[in-house]
Amino acid sequence: MERAVKDESRGRLTKDGIRIYDSADFAGMHAAGRLAAEVLDAMADLVFPGQTTGEIDRVITKMVEDAGAKSATIGYKGYKHASCISVNHVVCHGIPGDKVLKDGDILNIDVTVIVDGWFGDTSRMYVAGKLPRKAERLIEVTHDALMLGIEAVKPGNTFGDIGHAIQSFVESHRMSVVRDFCGHGLGRVFHAPPNVLHYGRPGTGAVLEPGMFFTIEPMVNLGRPETKTLADDWTAVTRDKSLSAQYEHSVGVTETGVEIFTLSPAGKFHPTYG
Ligand code: MF3
Ligand code: CO
Ligand code: CO
Repeated sequence: MERAVKDESRGRLTKDGIRIYDSADFAGMHAAGRLAAEVLDAMADLVFPGQTTGEIDRVITKMVEDAGAKSATIGYKGYKHASCISVNHVVCHGIPGDKVLKDGDILNIDVTVIVDGWFGDTSRMYVAGKLPRKAERLIEVTHDALMLGIEAVKPGNTFGDIGHAIQSFVESHRMSVVRDFCGHGLGRVFHAPPNVLHYGRPGTGAVLEPGMFFTIEPMVNLGRPETKTLADDWTAVTRDKSLSAQYEHSVGVTETGVEIFTLSPAGKFHPTYG
């Protein structure tokens, strides 16, 4: 059956090319976000020394299938997996495979699902075995930076306010914000305008309006911010080999503030409860 209105032409575009969705569209994002969060809730038990990242991805693939949903990453620009799993100095887009986790490894698991055409995109940090002290600080700061960025989401604020909240907090802890990757608009598509920068100056950039849907997904390094991409054309690593962490939520701007679509139903998003 063909829809009367093309999904991509819902709502309207701002002068910055950012789509404004209808209030009824929040329910679709909520359902997609919840599934993505449920998948991540199940991951804590799968992360332990001796486990492979490929096995974790296999379980994610099955969970998404069993939920009657689709993985947004399988087939995306030639990517073949239902998750990105980024270990230690891998910043993002780590490819699941034969890599065996060892005690003290930290990893980000990033999952994007499609439910009824809506995209839910979220990632969290996990640890195999015992969490090393300096990794603990990095993970805590990265999580708190994301949540501070989300606190800046309300109509009338700007994207620069979000970036500034994240950058100023991270740098006050003598860590660095990755510049080479950013958050993104999403909704009926995976990646749409705007680029959501995790650094910036207050009052700059596009103004937030109710009905904007986007991700915030800061990557924070213990060392310098520069990254490089490996020969597989996906895996991004820190140039100085320092540890990197990331947290990601999909959010929507409401009339009064923000709705987080990818909240953990089990309350497990924060590192302390993972
Ligand atoms: N989920 C990632 C993001 O946050 C995108 C992964 S694309 C992939 O935008 F192809 F690498 F999976
Ligand atoms: Co994303
Ligand atoms: Co993601």
